[in-house]
Amino acid sequence: MTTSTNEASLFVIFGGTGDLSRRKLLPALGNLDTEGHLNPRMRVLAVGRRPKTDEEFRQLAKDALGQAGLPSERIEATARRLHYQVLDPGKPEDYRTLGRRLYDLGREHDIPANYAFYLSLPPRAFPLAVAGLGEAGLNQPEGWSRLVVEKPFGKDLASAEKLNALVHQHFQEDQIYRIDHYLGKETVQNLLVFRLANAFIESSWNRERIDAVQITVGENLGVGTRAEYYDHSGALRDMVQNHLTQLLTLVAMEVPSSFSARAIRHEKIKVLQSIAPIEPANVVRGQYTAGELNGQAVRGYLQEDGVAKGSQTETFVAIKLFVDSWRWQGVPFYLRTGKCLPAKTTQIAVRFREAPVGYFKQMGCNQDTADVLTIALQPDEGFIFHLDIKMPGAPLRLERIPLRFNYNEHFEGSLPDGYQTLLLDVLNGDQTLFVHSDEVEGSWRVYAPLLDNPPKIYNYAAGTWGPPEADSLAIPERDLWQKETV
Ligand SMILES: NC(=O)c1ccc[n+]([C@@H]2O[C@H](COP(=O)([O-])OP(=O)(O)OC[C@H]3O[C@@H](n4cnc5c(N)ncnc54)[C@H](OP(=O)(O)O)[C@@H]3O)[C@@H](O)[C@H]2O)c1
Repeated sequence: MTTSTNEASLFVIFGGTGDLSRRKLLPALGNLDTEGHLNPRMRVLAVGRRPKTDEEFRQLAKDALGQAGLPSERIEATARRLHYQVLDPGKPEDYRTLGRRLYDLGREHDIPANYAFYLSLPPRAFPLAVAGLGEAGLNQPEGWSRLVVEKPFGKDLASAEKLNALVHQHFQEDQIYRIDHYLGKETVQNLLVFRLANAFIESSWNRERIDAVQITVGENLGVGTRAEYYDHSGALRDMVQNHLTQLLTLVAMEVPSSFSARAIRHEKIKVLQSIAPIEPANVVRGQYTAGELNGQAVRGYLQEDGVAKGSQTETFVAIKLFVDSWRWQGVPFYLRTGKCLPAKTTQIAVRFREAPVGYFKQMGCNQDTADVLTIALQPDEGFIFHLDIKMPGAPLRLERIPLRFNYNEHFEGSLPDGYQTLLLDVLNGDQTLFVHSDEVEGSWRVYAPLLDNPPKIYNYAAGTWGPPEADSLAIPERDLWQKETV
């Protein structure tokens, strides 16, 4: 959430040749460069196991930047910042070579020893890279050293604790940036501004005024090429423990004592500590079977290449939970996510309580729905507030109208990708939109009983909104599951 004030530094991407680097990190750096947010002396060093020259890596990066739609003159300018270093994560001597390369690049380009290490590696390689950097002293250069860790951060509470312990052996918490790319989205950041800059919203943001909150992340694709990874993960680990729970903490947190990373993360941790144990009866797990999606026939999950025979991995999960705090006592929070749903959508729907006296209902008007604020994150970012108004003329009739705010329509130009925001924050040392170790562990702790004893799994046809059993979790006849667009 910072502006472009970063010092000269060396940004090191482990796994620089990989999918995430090519599709997200390099384009994000290219866009930051184009918009003038990067320090002119800043350099990027991609690290990989296969030998490559700087020039060979620049060619790979130029292709990636071209595919991301950067103009050709900007591609050339960004490519000049790029370098490459071969490194085997398991070889301690390679980290000493990396240290010497960073020193040389620093001297050549007049960059102080400020290093950001982005681990864009398969999770099994995280521990090697963390230990290698620490043992080579790259965690304590003369300037600063920051470590960026991608998701998934562990696969359960025990593995997350173990990884945190290893990372803390070598890096202090204020050096560690755990990524949840949802937090880089403009609407997520705006959620904080919306709550804290508009007193009438914050004064209504509690159990007195709010009836229910629903957080939905729908994907209109199957597991595709990630089937093997996904089959060991499932919706609860892959989506709920991180993205949906991060959104939940931002919605439910108390007003922080200041608009700082420390204060905001402290409040988010308190929310996690306040979540009541989840009743297994309030969880519906699902797995898609063959169906029709986007006008095409799709096969079922069990028929996907890489999925184990008879797999019980959930591709859908719906959860009803409660935050046991003064603010939220008794207000249900519904979390729902799934693959092969009818729409790609991420939204938070906040349902306000109905007016205490239904005057208009008594007069025969259709005032039978509560006001709903929908905060949309995907496909478009913005808000919709559904309110009742009087229709013109007689007799008295009410109509529900949407007050809409769409980011792209209101502000010129496209929104920055979440990674752009997050990389700039890393360069500026702003941890507000990164996940603290206590948040990661707190979140795994919430879901540990469900991971240890997974509730029954139900089938749903691809192209539907999950198993019908999930509908029974939502308040009868007040269902907000459906997709909204801003
Ligand atoms: N891709 C996405 O859209 C996405 C989205 C969210 C999060 N993530 C997370 O981001 C990280 C990177 O994802 P990715 O899709 O880019 O992964 P990837 O393409 O599978 O791997 C990235 C790079 O890591 C290196 N690598 C592969 N196996 C390795 C090993 N055993 N030891 C050391 N290096 C190895 C490879 O580079 P060399 O062969 O050149 O060494 C590879 O190009 C993962 O943690 C993933 O969970 C990815």
